[in-house]
Amino acid sequence: MHPLIKNVLLNKEEINKRTNQVALEIEEYYKKIIPNEEPIVLVGFLKGCVPFMGKFLENFSLSCQTEYMLISSYGSNIKSSGKPEILLDLKIPIENRHILIVEDVIDTGITLDFMVDYFKMQKPKSIKIVTMLDKVNSHKVDIKADWKCFDVGDDFLVGMGLDVNERFRNLPYIGVIDTEKLKNWKW
Ligand code: IMP
Ligand code: MG
Repeated sequence: MHPLIKNVLLNKEEINKRTNQVALEIEEYYKKIIPNEEPIVLVGFLKGCVPFMGKFLENFSLSCQTEYMLISSYGSNIKSSGKPEILLDLKIPIENRHILIVEDVIDTGITLDFMVDYFKMQKPKSIKIVTMLDKVNSHKVDIKADWKCFDVGDDFLVGMGLDVNERFRNLPYIGVIDTEKLKNWKW
């Protein structure tokens, strides 16, 4: 394991198992409200969503399309600037569509809160949120995921799309960063 990683919080098997359960719950929900083959619009925010979106898609069998946006809110360090900015927007109209946001982690919730408001202005039929991780004690706004895989504490995490300095997104597990070592780390 990399010396910046203190410990493994969630391993690959745990993530796989829980993602499968959550995807099935979501299927059950949408089967009831969408009687036909109308595709759900899955929206992921680059770059962090990619591994979880991939895992989710493997487990989700309803008709859907996948769209991606690029939102900036964090720089290369571990503190949020708290101001989301849309760097790459959706290329499709979402009016009258069912939107499912597929998120890696909710921390302060500021990004999601901002994005939900942004989507609402475009009059979708519904907006739901599934997140891999929820830092329940770190929320600064009133936002709730409709489905989540895991509640986590406020440690800085990497892996499964989560990065520090654009690194570790490719880890197949969720690891806890040693923030003391990180302070003086030479990349
Ligand atoms: P929020 O707006 O504070 O909820 O920030 C959400 C975004 O911050 C996530 O999509 C991640 O990109 C990033 N983020 C939050 N916590 C972590 C973490 O522990 N590791 C890596 N990125 C994180
Ligand atoms: Mg994200």
